[in-house]
Amino acid sequence: MSLKKIITIPDPILREKSKAIINFDNKTKKLMDDMLETMYAAPGIGLAAIQIGIAKRVVVIDVSKDQKKSPFFFVNPEIIWKSESKGSYEEGCLSIPNQFALIERPEKCKVKFLDYNGKESVLEAGGILSTCIQHEVDHLNGVLFIDHLSKLKKSLIEKKVAKQKKEQERIVV
Ligand code: NI
Repeated sequence: MSLKKIITIPDPILREKSKAIINFDNKTKKLMDDMLETMYAAPGIGLAAIQIGIAKRVVVIDVSKDQKKSPFFFVNPEIIWKSESKGSYEEGCLSIPNQFALIERPEKCKVKFLDYNGKESVLEAGGILSTCIQHEVDHLNGVLFIDHLSKLKKSLIEKKVAKQKKEQERIVV
């Protein structure tokens, strides 16, 4: 396994639409292993392949709170149902460092995907897992959580990230 660099805004790669995995093979598993390691190290609770610069429809998620890891792997995830009821979470994103905003999404969803072994599965999720799945599937379509905000709030976050980056570049000698 190896740690990958996480791409941040305003890199245009994050706006690319990811392509489906046609041949599920060991390279797909290697990608998932690397993504999981990168996500844990960040640390984060979800990561889409595009965030490490790979435009493939692959997502890893682990929303467990205790020390015991329980990762989910989603290859070619497709949301096949969303509940009418809505839920809100304060969302952040490893590609938009240190910024958070309350985002409303369908409370529950059902997702069809290939699991770590390439087996077709369906999962019905609620709560934070549902939000996380929707956030990651957005990434595969080039959509970021800030796109769900007003123009004003979105540009404020973009400016803050730009400022942060500038400050990181400063050196004192
Ligand atoms: Ni994200």
